[in-house]
Amino acid sequence: KPATTCQSKDWFQYQLKHQDKTTAARRGQFNTPHGAVQTPAFMPVGTQGTVKGLEIGMVRQTGAEMILGNTYHLSLRPGDDIVAELGGLHKFMGWDGPILTDSGGFQIFSLAQMRKITEKEAIFQSHIDGRKIHLSPERSIEIQENLGSDIAMVLDHVVELPNKPQVIREAMDRSIRWAQRCQAAAARNDQAQFAIVQGGLDEKLRVECAERLGALNFPGYAIGGLSVGEPPPEMYRILDATCPALPADKPRYLMGVGRPEDLLEGIRRGVDLFDCVMPTRNGRNALAFTDEGTVRLRNAKYQRDPAPLDPKSVPQVAGLSRAYLRHLFMAKEMLGPILLTLHNVAYYQRLMREARQVIEEDRFEAFYEEKMRGWASGG
Ligand code: GUN
Repeated sequence: KPATTCQSKDWFQYQLKHQDKTTAARRGQFNTPHGAVQTPAFMPVGTQGTVKGLEIGMVRQTGAEMILGNTYHLSLRPGDDIVAELGGLHKFMGWDGPILTDSGGFQIFSLAQMRKITEKEAIFQSHIDGRKIHLSPERSIEIQENLGSDIAMVLDHVVELPNKPQVIREAMDRSIRWAQRCQAAAARNDQAQFAIVQGGLDEKLRVECAERLGALNFPGYAIGGLSVGEPPPEMYRILDATCPALPADKPRYLMGVGRPEDLLEGIRRGVDLFDCVMPTRNGRNALAFTDEGTVRLRNAKYQRDPAPLDPKSVPQVAGLSRAYLRHLFMAKEMLGPILLTLHNVAYYQRLMREARQVIEEDRFEAFYEEKMRGWASGG
């Protein structure tokens, strides 16, 4: 097959609507068979076919336009064949908006036991039942096509950091070869593939990877292998190097990031798309995001606090006191995790809506300063 198969799907049509005047922040849009996505955007994580704790009406209520699903988890349980038989992931979970699926590359790195990577495929033991699993680039695409997501991620080779330069280089080279194999394996015209830039914390490798993948003409590009324990300034340094090396007319997706401040740091460097378990996982754990920083609701200081968590929260939460929300967690009531997950995901979506607005008005820099000041104030 030719090295530069044109994989651009004409329906995808990424549109750069406005470039901020003082930062690299971008206001854009792309289309999917299940609707348009306004960028910058944050995708709530729905690993197992559910955004944990939220029924679909609540997910919609937060304003999220696209959600993320996982090849690794759904192929192990219930099985992509079963999801396909039940009409695909959209129908299976009752979400009719856009879905992006991750390829399994990161989960092999973070969850699988006894993993072995060969040029052909990754071989690992399932974290559920210890079964031996083979995941090749072709199989990852087959799974994602069975799931029927709108955007599929290529299978990549993620390595832990820090690591030997040679190990990072080899994983990057392999990730590029695997991206080409994924591109060649695509059989569905209603699914777009995004390639993933690897290369550790080495700016030269990152630029090389971005340029080599850029030449393959994918509809979108992700930056992977970050937020794996490195200090945030290291991640920002890699974004500074990588974003300008990626095609300006394609969306850029920073995978697995992050805290609200990381989202604004990414946006100001030209990132368009994010996903992270932070709002959902922290919500289940009684940690809430607000404009004044994070609130740990289990803290004894909220025992008699009549103040709302956040008056700008969703209607289900805005009228409740911090004392009541704390009580729900102390009494282990399931409503606590549900309400805080709803609040946090809605908080992230509001942040993205505000970011999109201020970029259009060339006011991103002042917005960034104001948000950072608020989060650092500690309420
Ligand atoms: N999620 C967070 N980081 C990564 C990455 O580097 N690769 C993949 N496939 N998914 C991710």
